[in-house]
Amino acid sequence: MNSKKQLVKGIDVSDTTLEEQKTLNSFYLREIGQPADFRESPDLSEYFFIEEIEDRWNAYEASRLAMQDYPTNAEDFLSWYNKLHMAHRKIVAPFFTRLAEHSTLEELTFYIAMENEVDGRFDDVISLAQLGMTGDMKLALAENYWDEMGMGSLEEMHTVLFTASAEKLRGIAGLSSEKIQVPSAALKNGNLLLMYALRRKYHPRLLGTLAILEHTAPYRFAKTVQAMRRLGIPEDVIYYHDMHIQVDANHGKQLIERVLMTLAKDNPDIIPELCIGCLVRYNVAVDYYNSVEAEMDKITLQKEKEY
Ligand SMILES: [Fe+2]
Repeated sequence: MNSKKQLVKGIDVSDTTLEEQKTLNSFYLREIGQPADFRESPDLSEYFFIEEIEDRWNAYEASRLAMQDYPTNAEDFLSWYNKLHMAHRKIVAPFFTRLAEHSTLEELTFYIAMENEVDGRFDDVISLAQLGMTGDMKLALAENYWDEMGMGSLEEMHTVLFTASAEKLRGIAGLSSEKIQVPSAALKNGNLLLMYALRRKYHPRLLGTLAILEHTAPYRFAKTVQAMRRLGIPEDVIYYHDMHIQVDANHGKQLIERVLMTLAKDNPDIIPELCIGCLVRYNVAVDYYNSVEAEMDKITLQKEKEY
């Protein structure tokens, strides 16, 4: 329930609740449902209610952004972006150091289960990012998409590899997926991509979000692999994570050089939207890692009580 309404200049900017994020998540998954589930796809009449939640969520995220003058040309945008990238890396470092050096098997398994909120439908997000593009930026996204497709090999499709890896890890840790509660911040982490991908007015924000997400991913995957090797996880479970250290470094580079920079050069008026996408992803990601860490603490406390 939305207990406290927060108004700024008459606009409701109160945060969305866990229930509202669950509503958004199931709605988005119905919007990109499988062909056989066509009967479940949303009815036009449902959009009004969904839009109200989305608008409030976007107003909440906007209220968290410090007033700033966004860059006005591509060159300034690149240095702005690089600074943000460094700040992002610094702020998430304590969480990933803990994950790499001290996490228990259960903690690591929980983290990987939460990553499914993003990785589980990532290929659809990339395909939606490509819609409407022309020229080289479309090719950049096409290459990214083809990587997600395992370059044509079913067994190498990233969603297939990720699901298999997460399942095996849950098996090793003895954790059933039903037992895992997804916190609101983890739902938001996945929902942000889906909202930006499915609402076309947020197309530039999606591209900003994807750039910062993929550009910072090699560091996260490297730390995850370090944790997995320390805990003696089999190499076939590690494979997906290890492979993304390289793959996402390239995706991040291509997104910045061939997509964001091209857009910023050709249409400098959309630079603020690219920036908002980067900044909102930054905030949502920080909340997400904080919430995962809090849940990891609870898991370990509970385990210690059981002994
Ligand atoms: Fe991938």
